[in-house]
Amino acid sequence: MKRVFSGVQPTGNIHLGNYLGALRQFVELQEDHECIYCIVDMHAITVPQEPKELKEHILDVAALYLAVGIDPKKSIVFVQSDVPGHAELSWVLTCSSYTGELSRMTQFKDKSKNKESAPTGLFTYPVLMAADILLYDTDVVPVGNDQKQHIELCRDLAIRVNGKHPNTFVVPDGRFLKSGARIMALDDPTKKMSKSAENIHSRISLLDEPSKIKKSIMKATTDSEGIIRFDVENKPGISNLLNIYSVLSGISIEDLEKKYEGKGYGDFKKDLVEITVDALAPIRARYEEIRNSQMLIDVLKDGAKRADEIAQKTMERVKTNFGLGL
Ligand code: AMP
Ligand code: TRP
Repeated sequence: MKRVFSGVQPTGNIHLGNYLGALRQFVELQEDHECIYCIVDMHAITVPQEPKELKEHILDVAALYLAVGIDPKKSIVFVQSDVPGHAELSWVLTCSSYTGELSRMTQFKDKSKNKESAPTGLFTYPVLMAADILLYDTDVVPVGNDQKQHIELCRDLAIRVNGKHPNTFVVPDGRFLKSGARIMALDDPTKKMSKSAENIHSRISLLDEPSKIKKSIMKATTDSEGIIRFDVENKPGISNLLNIYSVLSGISIEDLEKKYEGKGYGDFKKDLVEITVDALAPIRARYEEIRNSQMLIDVLKDGAKRADEIAQKTMERVKTNFGLGL
């Protein structure tokens, strides 16, 4: 069986973009892959975090993982900082990376724009991500489109190290969803939906109440043409809503265009509210059951143990191949 690894940051507000771009794939892949799903808290501290909040967010994401359907009997679910191998391998890979390639990462460029100096953790973020993946001899990494460049860097690092120290790493492949891979912000459909945007109506969080979902969708930016047509260039708002509707309902975008011919944005949005509320209700219900349970803690502890066993074997091999340690 091929091995899958992926991670989500515990920074709160897991949203529809995360769900459609990443979490839904995680669930599907469990059926015929050996899956490892991580809550990447060490990535989260690349920007300042309130310790109490971070702890809560770790458990929020863990509970959401299980609520969307990740099954701890099939998959390993754990917290990154509970397995020391991530930090260890990250250093080894840092020494095989170049400042030039890290400077070219668009996420780093975005986050450090207009600043004379940026936090080093933001700069080496993609190296830690490569360590996460390579530590488990991962074959497949399911992620949203926005992570393409980071996956490419991970592959480059693995190939580079293997060139010097043969058979050290498995070179992984990214797995990117086509439709739904990029969900845009509701208030500005030229930007991707994000956890950190200030306007809460820019996103639909997986745990939003129905009334909040309604408000966010009804407020979503559209255009003045009044025709429901998919055209990302000229109608990014409606196109984003069509995309969300399509991936949540399973109805193709062409069929949706036909269904809403001659109808206004108001009708379309009302239906989208219903579809979204119905899709998220069972997730919210399961989350409430799990979030404060001992079961959740047990799953994470057991997950860390199982992950650590795999990680230690890889670190042994890495250290031997590099000539590190005794
Ligand atoms: P992050 O929110 O950056 O921790 O991302 C968690 C996962 O969700 C990653 O696989 C991202 O690629 C994916 N993701 C984040 N934002 C979006 C978005 N707006 N549309 C689709 N996928 C996304
Ligand atoms: N950088 C990823 C994101 O923001 C999160 C992440 C960290 C990740 N380590 C990973 C994703 C390893 C896949 C594999 O979405």
